[in-house]
Amino acid sequence: MLVLGIETSCDETAAAVVRDGREVLSNVIYSQIARHQAFGGVVPEIASRAHVEVLPRIIDEAMAGAGAAWGDLDAVAATRGPGLSTSLLVGFTAAKALALRLGKPLLGINHLEAHLYSVFLSSALQPPTSVFRPPSSVLILLASGGHTSLAVFHAPGQIGILGQTFDDAAGEALDKGAKLLGLGYPGGPAIETAARGGNPGAVPFPRGLRSRGDDPETRYAFSFSGLKTALLYHLKANPLDGNSARLADLAASYQEAVVDALVARVERACDEFQIRGLGCAGGVARNRRLREKLERIAAQRNLPLLLAEPDFCTDNAAMVAALAAADDNIARHDATGLDVDPTWPIPSSSTRPGP
Ligand code: KG4
Ligand code: ZN
Repeated sequence: MLVLGIETSCDETAAAVVRDGREVLSNVIYSQIARHQAFGGVVPEIASRAHVEVLPRIIDEAMAGAGAAWGDLDAVAATRGPGLSTSLLVGFTAAKALALRLGKPLLGINHLEAHLYSVFLSSALQPPTSVFRPPSSVLILLASGGHTSLAVFHAPGQIGILGQTFDDAAGEALDKGAKLLGLGYPGGPAIETAARGGNPGAVPFPRGLRSRGDDPETRYAFSFSGLKTALLYHLKANPLDGNSARLADLAASYQEAVVDALVARVERACDEFQIRGLGCAGGVARNRRLREKLERIAAQRNLPLLLAEPDFCTDNAAMVAALAAADDNIARHDATGLDVDPTWPIPSSSTRPGP
């Protein structure tokens, strides 16, 4: 089964062709970062115009890279939400037009579910003998620039959400922290580089939300806005004044606080729920320190570890096409009558899985 995936929810224009839900034949990503850098963040109007400009070329490259002809496709899938509405519209409308022209089904994919699903593209999983079916009961941490969620994946559309962030996302905390430290955008990789050689214990930044006992609202939830404020006040009291050793210590301490807040919830969930694997996805999953700590947690508990490959951590269309192929009724599903949904939440079976 061959699926063309298209992703334009934010500032990456991406297309990919995936065979049988696991084999990524092409994965083309045009990152718009350079167009937004001067503004210190994504400008929606610039993003949607760039998608219009480059998407046709990106789709052609994905098809050529896969050696696929239009007639070989079994379905077209595109991100339908959540994301920037004018950006989503570009990719979803292009996918609609293609699907109608080819007479093939169109699948509207949830961006967050696709991020969660990207862990199954990990090379740690055996290649399938036929169309790939994902394992169930996998605890997945999704940490990106716009979202932070801890969820138990059972099957597509059946995801138990344990907790989300009350305010900033983990990547957003890194992006804002980097700005305060005078580092570039995106902040995650900039902080990771600046932290090299720094002492992660130099400044005891807060580790996010304190859970109120067994309160389900806070037990697995995240909060990062206090961390950025703590850095702001620390810098006011102790200006950096170009001291590079102190910059490394601060970057390492800040990164450590973000990573610790994430892994504390993961560790708790590993101990409290019957899970059969541990995964991590989203842009922040590229972070070396986070990956190391998750490796340790999985090894201590003998859990299979499914860390999204770096190419599939940040926004990409391979995860979109892969998730589409997991739909048992792909031939019957048709999203051509639907519109984009900029605030679409993760499709969940229930908000909380059973222990
Ligand atoms: O998943 P993504 O591409 O975008 C969203 O859908 O939000 O994630 C982008 C986020 C940014 O906040 C960026 O700073 C962060 O991922 N990021 C990292 C690293 N690479 C990207 N954070 C920590 N360490 C990294 N190496
Ligand atoms: Zn994303």
